[in-house]
Amino acid sequence: MTKPRFYLTTAIAYPNGRPHMGHAYEAIASDVIARFKRLDGHEVRFLTGTDEHGLKIDQAARAAGMAPKAYVDQMVAPFQALDAALGISFDRFIRTTDADHKALVQALWQRMAANDDLYLGRYEGWYSVRDEAFYDEAELVTADDGARLSPQGTPVEWTVEESWFFRLSAYQDRLLALYDSQPDFIQPASRFNEMRAFVAGGLSDLSVSRTSFAWGIPVPGDERHVMYVWLDALANYLTGAGGLDGEWWPAALHIVGKDVVRFHTVYWPAFLMSAGLALPKTVFGHGFLLNRGEKMSKSLGNVVDPAEMAQRFGVDRLRWFLCREVAFGEDGSYSDEAIVERTNADLANGIGNLAQRSLAMVAKNLGGVMPVWGEAGETELRLKQAFHAGAEAYFAAMNSLALHRALDAVMAMVTAANGYFAENAPWALAKSGDTTRMAEVLAATLDATRRIVLLAQPFMPGSTSLLLDQLGVAADARDFNGFNTPVAAGTQLPAPAGVFPRITLDG
Ligand code: MSP
Repeated sequence: MTKPRFYLTTAIAYPNGRPHMGHAYEAIASDVIARFKRLDGHEVRFLTGTDEHGLKIDQAARAAGMAPKAYVDQMVAPFQALDAALGISFDRFIRTTDADHKALVQALWQRMAANDDLYLGRYEGWYSVRDEAFYDEAELVTADDGARLSPQGTPVEWTVEESWFFRLSAYQDRLLALYDSQPDFIQPASRFNEMRAFVAGGLSDLSVSRTSFAWGIPVPGDERHVMYVWLDALANYLTGAGGLDGEWWPAALHIVGKDVVRFHTVYWPAFLMSAGLALPKTVFGHGFLLNRGEKMSKSLGNVVDPAEMAQRFGVDRLRWFLCREVAFGEDGSYSDEAIVERTNADLANGIGNLAQRSLAMVAKNLGGVMPVWGEAGETELRLKQAFHAGAEAYFAAMNSLALHRALDAVMAMVTAANGYFAENAPWALAKSGDTTRMAEVLAATLDATRRIVLLAQPFMPGSTSLLLDQLGVAADARDFNGFNTPVAAGTQLPAPAGVFPRITLDG
């Protein structure tokens, strides 16, 4: 039987500085979804990478006194190191300076030109280098000191140059029809409404080439021009799919931050329509991560190195915290205190405690041999019901990308399992010599733990793998097909060892 395919992507980061927690957050959330889909029977392709052309990178390279290619070559390393530190299971790390990407973008341009959607004109208007975006006069805001700023609060400059234009204005009706016929194209719903209103307000043609600098992909047939960096960057998703007729296209899911939703849900589908290509199924715009409620910025001095955070707290604690604490789609905040508090409560006291207490009793009282199930009594039935509801809530949440709700469901299962264990007090049964009943309670608790750990795998791949070893779950019995299959009685379990020790602020 062939598995259904699932192609997902992150935004590709500008390597003009070091990666920050926002990059880590997007990579982690996307990786959780990729791992979930694999466990849930999909063949997954997961693409991430870096966006290396354009004026912003050109200027940063100049400031560093380097040629742009040499500059990005050294700047990309920390992004790749971060992915490794966070356990990001991508299939390809694309760089827009890769040769196959350059060829793809030029072929895409030719398709759009063949559709008569590109024409030569003269751009006169506002441009933000920081956002790499053009803005209409009406979109600008005025700062206290009178300076004109983009809606994102970045400086804009008046730009006049010859430029190729894309007939974006011709796509207004088709875009509105897309949104109305495919309401899950833009998620969450708040971003859908914002983008629909933007398009309904009218679209101007888009300048898609520049002549005032050379760091980009040349326009085929008019090499004085380099392509607009967003056209180049968005096309990475096609390159990563295997090309214009790539076997992985269309993407099931683009995960991007809220600030770049417009590029992905207005420009990108219009480019694809122009080239006669299928459209991605969903663009999900996640929220922004704030440091103690404040925007991360160099001037505030609150930029932390996410690889260092993963090192300090343990990568799985960081992954768990970010997915549990931030409602996926909304802004969220992190602080060292919150990470310590949350992971001690959920992981040390919750999942870790459940696993350690039951595994330690099996080791001590039953020689580490997986016990035999008993007849289900009232407490077992209640546990079963709680787990049935929990698993259902988990899958519904994961399938609608409500990652935080999925973890709520996992924690409800942890509470039910810890409640079952406390209520049946197997340590008292051991003391009173009722070994049979004690073994039954331990069998039910270990199986509840197995189910919890299976569902937690996308969020904490390393620690769950260690726990599943201890629970005697074979390596080929860890996907969701095996969810309802307990470990066979009589299986010899390895000696238990704590996986989630409590942590303190000073490590
Ligand atoms: N290069 C473009 C994306 C091109 S996609 C074809 C870009 N790069 S970026 O480095 O500025 O941002 C990369 C991703 O990180 C974007 O999805 C962006 O929204 C996200 N984030 C940047 N800062 C963020 C936070 N503070 N919090 C969460 N995500 C943030 O945009």
